[in-house]
Amino acid sequence: MIHRRIFWVTLALFALVLIMAACAPPGQQKVSGELNLLCTPQVEWCEGMKAEFEKVYPDITVNFVRMSSGESLTRLRNEKDNPQFDIWWGGPVDSFIAAAQEDLLEPYTTPSQDKIINKDLMLDKDKNWVGIYVGSLGFATNTESGVTPPTSWDDLLAPELTGQLMVAHPSSSGTSYTALCTILQIYGEEEGWEYLKKYAGQVNQFTKSGSAPASFVGAGEAAVGIVFSHDIVKRIEEGLPLELTFAEEGTGYEIGGMGLIKGAKNLEAAKLWYDWALQPETQEIGPKYGAYQAPTVEGAKPFMPELLKVNLIDYDFQWCGEHKKEFVDKFTNEIAGAENLKK
Ligand code: F6P
Repeated sequence: MIHRRIFWVTLALFALVLIMAACAPPGQQKVSGELNLLCTPQVEWCEGMKAEFEKVYPDITVNFVRMSSGESLTRLRNEKDNPQFDIWWGGPVDSFIAAAQEDLLEPYTTPSQDKIINKDLMLDKDKNWVGIYVGSLGFATNTESGVTPPTSWDDLLAPELTGQLMVAHPSSSGTSYTALCTILQIYGEEEGWEYLKKYAGQVNQFTKSGSAPASFVGAGEAAVGIVFSHDIVKRIEEGLPLELTFAEEGTGYEIGGMGLIKGAKNLEAAKLWYDWALQPETQEIGPKYGAYQAPTVEGAKPFMPELLKVNLIDYDFQWCGEHKKEFVDKFTNEIAGAENLKK
């Protein structure tokens, strides 16, 4: 009789421990091992996030690789049958929409998504991806170049800017793809492609990563770069002679995305990262590592709200994501190849 009672009490205690472990808030669940992170934002932020996550989850080691959006998409596509990454964090959602179309992402529904400020825009209806930050596109002009900082897309075609423009290639970079798709939405497809031919003719050299032109323009290699505004601010803070301006008729913007990788080998650890990345405290970490994108969850304050208080177009993420492959192929095959991109 006593033995039976001990048995039931032990079983009940065991069940209680299991329930408590399952309900433990993020940061207290016991998961250990590795987490392979595909990280698209600037490398300093990737490093910072790895360190911050490992402080909360000391039993998990984060291995990350920083790759631009287009490169990431190609990598995920190539590794589809044997994925090497568990989670993809950062980079405009256009690429996540394209990845979901190719069934490369693992849907995930979690209460952490309840805090998203604009679910129509920032949360995929099938939960393949979620928005983790927002940033607007700007122009970076070298203040020693003698060039008047552009305030419209048309200004980029001025004769004085021939060979003086720098932007990444849309095949490798999400920043550049955001610019391409912004142009198609502002001018319409037909006129937009005509514009893109002239714009490509102004480019001194295409870079691989989206933020690189800010550094090159700051170093005087070209007069104007097309870069996300937060990346321009970062270079200005570092002391580069740059001025930030915006296209007054409207500029595009990104929602940075996050999604679990289909077939991830460390899915539990990836879910912990996902939930952690949607906490307001986590979304306020960026500025500590020079990342000034605006947060996407309630309770997190933007560090530089003025970067979004500009004339933003009603960017159609779904349309741009669904046509990404087609538009990038067209640009690469008919306008400018993707060989010898500047690093
Ligand atoms: O440097 C940060 C950042 O601009 C992010 O805001 C953006 O999502 C990402 O880089 C895009 O990188 P890339 O253009 O190289 O794909």
